[in-house]
Amino acid sequence: MGSGISLVAAQSGIDCWQIDISAEQLERAKAYHAKTVARAVSKQRMTEEEGTAALARIRYTQSMADGRNAEWAVEAASENVDVKKKIFVAMQSTFSASTVLATNTSSISITDLASAVGADAHRVIGMHFFNPVPVMKLVEVIKGLATSAETTARTMELSKAMGKTPVPANDRAGFVSNRVLMPMINEAFYAWMEGVAEPSDIDEIMKLGCNFPMGPLRLADFIGLDVCHDIMMVLYRELGHPKFFPCPRLRQLVQAGRLGDKSGCGVFEYPVS
Ligand code: CAA
Repeated sequence: MGSGISLVAAQSGIDCWQIDISAEQLERAKAYHAKTVARAVSKQRMTEEEGTAALARIRYTQSMADGRNAEWAVEAASENVDVKKKIFVAMQSTFSASTVLATNTSSISITDLASAVGADAHRVIGMHFFNPVPVMKLVEVIKGLATSAETTARTMELSKAMGKTPVPANDRAGFVSNRVLMPMINEAFYAWMEGVAEPSDIDEIMKLGCNFPMGPLRLADFIGLDVCHDIMMVLYRELGHPKFFPCPRLRQLVQAGRLGDKSGCGVFEYPVS
């Protein structure tokens, strides 16, 4: 998601750094940026000059310190509270005292993440993008207990400057999007496990019956089955209701390494490119 966020920022005229500890991930981000811009140019949604200028606005680094002058930092690491807290501590010591420290978390409490940076908690905010970031219009904006009005106003403004529609939600696990989406995905796994219908039929019914662009099982593969599992566990732990506990069929696929599109196989199979 980080590469989608940086691309949208760059296409909106914002200079940015793509920061990752993995050189391989940075290469993948670069390839994704080049491919997506080339497609936009070929579809005449931007000129070649605009595409070249957008790509030139993104710099790639494994060192957070390179981006130290940024006005904005958006953390988009995996959905693990300890990993994210470590990154927030690093962001606090790297960026200036006025940098907004945003997180693209899908489910973890903003107040909890902000506790890692103590007195700087007023600069921490949830800025939840949706995949594919260049296509999806929504940014779910979540204030933590200490998030300042200034941080919120700046985040709403930045989201709009990136061509997105920011919508506020309160700081409860999963916010609105995943609190509603994940139980639907989980229920689709139960329907499959209990033999209500084949996976492709479950998806076809939900696509045609509810006008969804993708069925819930296809969407789960697209999001990543491990990501869905981790989000459900956050919901289960924080909200305490068994309905959020991941279905055994989902757990089994994750244990088998069938993670969805990214591993070439999840509920469905995908050619690995
Ligand atoms: N990056 C950039 N652009 C992309 C893209 C990507 N990864 N994937 C697709 N697109 C673009 C394509 O280039 C295409 O643009 P053009 O029309 O200009 O060619 C357009 O999107 C449509 O793509 P396709 O024709 O290939 O395929 P499609 O019509 O089936 O649409 C889809 C693909 C946009 C992904 C659509 O199926 C969809 O909207 N699916 C639902 C996505 C969704 O629900 N996302 C939210 C997931 S939840 C989440 O992200 C948050 C979380 O916390 C878990």
